[in-house]
Amino acid sequence: MSRDAVPQPVRLGDYRPPDWLVDTVHLDVRLHPTAARIVARLALRPNPEGREGSPIVLDGDELNLKSVTLDGAPLAGSAYVATSTGLTLLAPPQRALTLEIETVVDPSANTRLMGLYRSSGTYCTQCEAEGFRRITYFPDRPDVLAVYTTRIEAERDEAPVLLGNGNPVEAGAVEDTSRHYAVWHDPWPKPSYLFALVGGKLDRITEDFVTATGKTVELGIYVEPGKTARAGYAMDALKRAMRWDEEAFGCEYDLDVFNIVAVADFNMGAMENKGLNIFNDKYVLASPETATDADYANIEAIIAHEYFHNWTGNRITCRDWFQLCLKEGLTVFRDQEFSSDQRSRPVKRIADVRLLKGHQFPEDSGPLAHPVRPSSYREINNFYTATVYEKGAEVVRMLKTVLGDEGFRAGMDLYLDRHDGDAATVEDFLACFADANGIDLTQFALWYAQSGTPRLAVSGHWDEAARSYRLDVAQTLPPTPGQSEKLPMVIPLAIGLVGPDGRDLPLALDDGSNAERGVLLVTKPRQSFVFRDVPHRPVPSLNRGFSAPVKLSSDLSTADLLFLARHDSDPFNRFDATQTLALSHLLEATSAVRAGGEQPAPDALVEALAATLGDTSLDPAFVAQALSIPSEADVAREIGEDVDPDAIHAARTRLRHAVGEALAPALEAVYARHAPTGNYSPDAASAGRRALRNTCLDLLAAGGTAKGIARAQAHFGAADNMTDRFFALAVLAHAAPDAREDALAAFHRQFRADPLVVDKWLALQAQIAEPQTLERVRDLTGHADFDWSNPNRVRALIGTFAGLNPTQFHRADGAGHDLVAGAVMDIDGRNPQLAARLLAAFKSWRSLEPVRRASAEAALRRVAGKPSLSPDVTDIVSRSLD
Ligand code: ARG
Ligand code: ZN
Repeated sequence: MSRDAVPQPVRLGDYRPPDWLVDTVHLDVRLHPTAARIVARLALRPNPEGREGSPIVLDGDELNLKSVTLDGAPLAGSAYVATSTGLTLLAPPQRALTLEIETVVDPSANTRLMGLYRSSGTYCTQCEAEGFRRITYFPDRPDVLAVYTTRIEAERDEAPVLLGNGNPVEAGAVEDTSRHYAVWHDPWPKPSYLFALVGGKLDRITEDFVTATGKTVELGIYVEPGKTARAGYAMDALKRAMRWDEEAFGCEYDLDVFNIVAVADFNMGAMENKGLNIFNDKYVLASPETATDADYANIEAIIAHEYFHNWTGNRITCRDWFQLCLKEGLTVFRDQEFSSDQRSRPVKRIADVRLLKGHQFPEDSGPLAHPVRPSSYREINNFYTATVYEKGAEVVRMLKTVLGDEGFRAGMDLYLDRHDGDAATVEDFLACFADANGIDLTQFALWYAQSGTPRLAVSGHWDEAARSYRLDVAQTLPPTPGQSEKLPMVIPLAIGLVGPDGRDLPLALDDGSNAERGVLLVTKPRQSFVFRDVPHRPVPSLNRGFSAPVKLSSDLSTADLLFLARHDSDPFNRFDATQTLALSHLLEATSAVRAGGEQPAPDALVEALAATLGDTSLDPAFVAQALSIPSEADVAREIGEDVDPDAIHAARTRLRHAVGEALAPALEAVYARHAPTGNYSPDAASAGRRALRNTCLDLLAAGGTAKGIARAQAHFGAADNMTDRFFALAVLAHAAPDAREDALAAFHRQFRADPLVVDKWLALQAQIAEPQTLERVRDLTGHADFDWSNPNRVRALIGTFAGLNPTQFHRADGAGHDLVAGAVMDIDGRNPQLAARLLAAFKSWRSLEPVRRASAEAALRRVAGKPSLSPDVTDIVSRSLD
C-alpha cells in the first residue's frame, strides 16, 4: 500500500465550529435514471462563533457541477474553486447570502449506495454519515442545521410515489409533460445526514396514530408492489414504539406524517431520516411463511430504534461524528428497553449480552479496538461498530444502574429539555445526569474514552466467627491500540449473596451502608467489601443482569455454579452459571483434543441442564437460552490465544452429542409438550415455545441417532411457518449430510422467488463445518440467485462464511482466508463500505494458532498490497496489521 493512500486522520481535538451556517435549503431535484439534476438554494451566513473572513468551503463527492450563482448572479470563475470533492468560494462577502448550485449525478451508476441511488428501480438516498455531499455541495457536517424544503420531480410512470422529509406541501402534474412533482417541507432544523428522498413505484399501507396530546399522525409504510401483506407487523411495531416512547420517555412525535420505505439494496439496517425512515427490506417485510421469530423480533427492535432516533438523534443530534455514540448508544439502549417491555426482560437481556460478547468483546480485544467515543478516525463509516452501538448502550445502562430509575429519568428529562435543537456532545449528555443528580461523573466518563474490556477478579471469604463475608475485587484494563496506560473505571457490580436455602441474604455493609439496590461501586484497582450478619457461607451471585460489560473471573466452584444455576433469583446469572459450566468444560475438552487425550465427561453441565429442563416453572424462552451450548466463537474468545478452531469444533460436537444422549428422554418429553397448538403467532410467548422445542430437536439430532434425524425430517415436512421449517433445515444441514441436499433443494424450490428467504438458504450453506463448504460457497457465488451487487446477498453468503464458520474461514490451508480476501478486493471497487465490513471479520486473527495466523496475515497483506484501495478498506486493513 502506498503511503499517500492512507487517508489523513480526523481528530476530535481539532474540532472547530463551522465558519458558515446554513439557515434554509431549497432543493429542486429532477429525477432521472442516469442524470438527476439537483438545484440547491442555500441561505448562508457567517457563524459568529467561526473565524472571521473565512472562505465558504463546501464538501462534494463525485459531483458534476453545472452552475453556481451568488445572490442570483453567476460567479466569476476566479471567485471559486470547484473539484469533484469540494467547492470553495475564496473571498465571499461576509454577510448573509444565497448560493444556488446546480449539480448532476448518476443514480444508476451509484453502486456505493451512498447519496442518491436506485434500488430495484426505486430512487432512494442514504446520507449518513457523509452522503449528502454526493447530491450537492454542502457543509456536510452534523453541526450545520438547516430547514429544508424539497421539490421532487419525476416521470409519473417511473416514480408515481415521491416522498421527502417533513410534511407534504403540494403535489401535481408538470404541465404538458409526462412528469409530476411533490413538495415537502421539514420545519425542524436538521443536519444534512438526515436528508432523504424517495421516488418509485411502491405500494403503501397506512394507519393513523393519535399522539399523547391528541394530534393525528398519518403513518405510511411503502414496499415493493405486491408486498403490503408483509408490512403489517412493522406497522404494528411502529405504533407500539410511538406509544412506548411517550410513556417511557415523554417523547411525542412532531410531524403530521411518518413514512417508512423498504428497499432491497441497503448497506446497513435502516436509517432515521427525519419523517422518512429508509429501511433494508429485511427489517420490514415479514410473514409467517417467510420470516422467523428472530426476524420478527429484529423488525420490532429496528422499527423502534429508527423511530426513537426522532428524539435521540434528530431533535438532539451530534456535534461531530466522534459523538456518534451519543445518538447510537442511547438509542440502542432505548430500543433494548422497548423490546424488554414488549417481551421478556430476562430473555432480552440474555440475548443482548450474547450479542455483546459475540461481537463487541472480540472487537475490543483485537486490533480494531476503539473507545465508545473514538478520538480520531480515517473513515467514519468504519465506526458504526458494536463498540459504538452495543457497548455505547451498555454505558447508558450502567448510568441507569448507578443513578437508579428516578435519577436516570431526571437526567434524561433534563437532556431532552436542555438540548432540544442542539448538536450535542457526550459531555453535554453526562452533564445533564450529573446536574440532575448532584453527582460527579468524571471517572464514569472514562467508559467513553478508554477502550478494551475491563477484567474483574472477585474472591469471597466467609468469616464464621465474625459472621461476616468479604468480597475482594481487583480490576484491570488491558492495553489496546493507542492506549497503553489505563485508569481505573467505575464498575457498577450488581450482586446478591445467596443463602443455603436459595434466598438472597440482606446486604448490610460493615460501614453501616446498604449496598444500594444491590450494587457495589468498584472504583479502585483493588477494593474489598465486607458484609455483616452473614450466618452461613453464602454463594455470591456476581454482576447480576450483567450490570457491567466486564470479563469476570471468580473463585466459584463447580458446586457453587450448579447451585446458582438452580437457585439464583437473578435469571441472567442462572443462565450465566450454566454457560460458565459449559465453557469451562469446553476449554478443558479443547485442550484434551489438542493433546490427543480423552475428553472429560460433562457431568456437572448435564446435571445443570437436566435441572433447568425439568423446572416447569421457567419461561420456555429462558430454558431455550439456558440449554444452548456456547458457540465455537464463544470458546475461542475464552481461550484468547493460540486458537485452533478445529479442536474447538471437535470438542463442542462431542459435547452436544453427549448432552443429547444423556438428556434424550427429557428432551423428547419437552419436545412433545411444546408441539404447536394453533396458528402461528409471532408473539414472544409463542416464539419462546418454538425456541425451546427447536432447541430440543437440535440436541436430539446432535446425538446423531437415526431417530433424531428422522424427527428433524418430520419437523421440516410438517412445519407451517418459517421458524420451524428453517430450524429443521439447519439441523439437517449440520447433522445429516445424507438428508441435507434434498432438504436444501426442496427449500430452494419453494422459496426461490423470495430473495430474503434465499438469503437464509445461502447463509445456512455457508455455515456448514466441513471442507467442501469452500467449494460450495464458490459455486453459490455463480448461482442465478446470487448477486454481488446486493449487500444482503453478499453478507448472507460471504459474511456468514467469515463470521459464523470458524473452522472453514480459518482453514489451515488458508483457502478460507483467500476466499474472503478475494471477495473484499472484488467488492471494494463497487461498494467500499460493504467491502470494509467484510474485511473486519479478520479482527481476531492474532489470536489464532501460528499456521492460521500466518495465513490470515498473508491474506491481509495481499489486500493491503492491492493498488487503488478505497479509504474504507485501507483503514481497516492498516489497523488490522498495525
Ligand atoms: N443511523 C443508522 C442507524 O440507526 C445507521 C446508518 C449508518 N449508515 C452508514 N452508511 N454508515 O443505526
Ligand atoms: Zn441508530
